Amino acid sequence: MMRDLFEKIYKDKGPLGKWASQAEGYFVFPKLEGMISNRMKFQGKDVITWSINDYLGLANHPEVRKVDAEAANDYGSAYPMGARMMSGHTSLHEQLQDELAEFVSKESTYLLNFGYQGIMSTIDALVGKDDIIVYDVDSHACIIDGVRLHMGKRFTYKHNDIESLEKNLERATKMAEHTGGGILVISEGVFGMRGEQGKLKEIAALKDKFNFRFLVDDAHGFGTLGKTGAGAGEEQGVQDEIDVYFATFAKSMASTGAFIAADKEIIDYLKYNLRSQMFAKSLQMQLVKGALKRLDMIRTMPELKENLWKIVNALQSGLRESGFDLGTTQSCVTPVYLKGSIPEAMALVKDLRENYGIFCSIVVYPVIPKGLILLRLIPTSMHTLEDVDETLKAFSVIRERLEKGVYKRLSASVAAAMGE
Ligand SMILES: Cc1ncc(COP(=O)(O)O)c(C=O)c1O
Repeated sequence: MMRDLFEKIYKDKGPLGKWASQAEGYFVFPKLEGMISNRMKFQGKDVITWSINDYLGLANHPEVRKVDAEAANDYGSAYPMGARMMSGHTSLHEQLQDELAEFVSKESTYLLNFGYQGIMSTIDALVGKDDIIVYDVDSHACIIDGVRLHMGKRFTYKHNDIESLEKNLERATKMAEHTGGGILVISEGVFGMRGEQGKLKEIAALKDKFNFRFLVDDAHGFGTLGKTGAGAGEEQGVQDEIDVYFATFAKSMASTGAFIAADKEIIDYLKYNLRSQMFAKSLQMQLVKGALKRLDMIRTMPELKENLWKIVNALQSGLRESGFDLGTTQSCVTPVYLKGSIPEAMALVKDLRENYGIFCSIVVYPVIPKGLILLRLIPTSMHTLEDVDETLKAFSVIRERLEKGVYKRLSASVAAAMGE
C-alpha cells in the first residue's frame, strides 16, 4: 500500500530531532550573542564560551575585521558572479591558492566554497566505479556522504586501528586486482569529537606494502598543529605522503570556504571535475581577501598558536589533574567524558550555564555510546588562564553533583516524560 511521503516524518523526527521539544533553543540551536570571543552572552547572561572553533582568535581580531570590512566595501557580497569556470575567476583567487599551496607544501591548491560539499566532490571526482575506498569508521559526515556517491566498493577500518586498516587494504587490493581499479584511503588529521590525531604516519608507512592514494581531512589540524601551523601532516612529518590534503576556513581561519591541495596535475584534473565547484558560484571576494589576510597572520604571528597551546595545556592538564577522563585527545579538542543519562546531561549543562556561566557543547547518544555524556571544550587563543581556572572550579563541582545523583533527581520528571 502506498503512503504519503511525509507520513514517516509526522511519526519519527529522527534520532536527534526527537529531542527538539526539550532541547531546542537551549541544548541545540542555542543563540550565542555578542562578538565572537572567549566571553559572550547566552540568554542575557555572560558565559565563557568553549564551543567555538575560532582556534587562533582571528574572528574578531581588529586587523581581520578591518580587511573584511574594506573588502565588503570594495566588492560587496556578490562579486564575482558565476562559477569559477564561467565568470567567477579572479587573480586574487589564484593568489590565495598559490599562497595556500606554499604554506601546506603542495604544488597546487583549489578553493572550495564549503568544506562539506568540497570534500564530497573531491572523493566523487577521485574515484570511478572500479576503484575502492578504505576509510576510518569514525569519519566526519562529509567524508561519509562523499563515499555515498561512490559507485564502487568501500570498506571501513576500525577507528585509527592500523591492523584493521591493513586487513581492509588486503581485501581492497585483491578486489582492485580483479576490477583493475585503484585504492583511496581516507583519514582525518584530527578527529573533531574525540580529538585524536589520525595515525597519518603509520598509514603513510603502509605505502611500502600497498598501492594506494591518501586523502586527509585536516579541518581541525590546519592552523593548530605543526611547527608552522600547516597541520597534522606537518606535525607528524608526513605531509609529502599525503596525496590530497584538505582543510576548511571554518575553524582556524575563522571564516567560510575551504581548499584541497595536491600535485599540480591532480589539482588541474580536480578543477575540471569537482561538481560542487563547477556548478556553484565562486567563493566571494570578501572571503578571498579575508582568507589572504588570515593566512598572512597565521604565517607571521606564531604567538597566536603559542597562546592557543598555553590555554590547551592549562585546561587539559588541569582537568586531568582533577581526575577527569579526557580520553585520548592529542589536539586542542578537549572532550570530557562523564557517565550519565541524557536527562542528567541536560540538567548538568543547565547548571554549568546558569550557575557558573560556562558554555560548552554537549554530545550524547547516538553520537557517542549510551550512558556516556561528552562535554566538548574548544580552547582558543582568546581564552585566558582566568577562564581556565573558573572552568576547572566549576567542573569539579558539577562532577561531585553528578556522582551524588543531584542531576538524576533534578531530571527525574524529564526522564519519566522521555521514557528514559
Ligand atoms: C572534519 C571536518 N571536515 C569538514 C568540515 C566541513 O567544513 P565546512 O564547514 O567548511 O563545510 C568540518 C566542519 O566544519 C569538519 O569538522
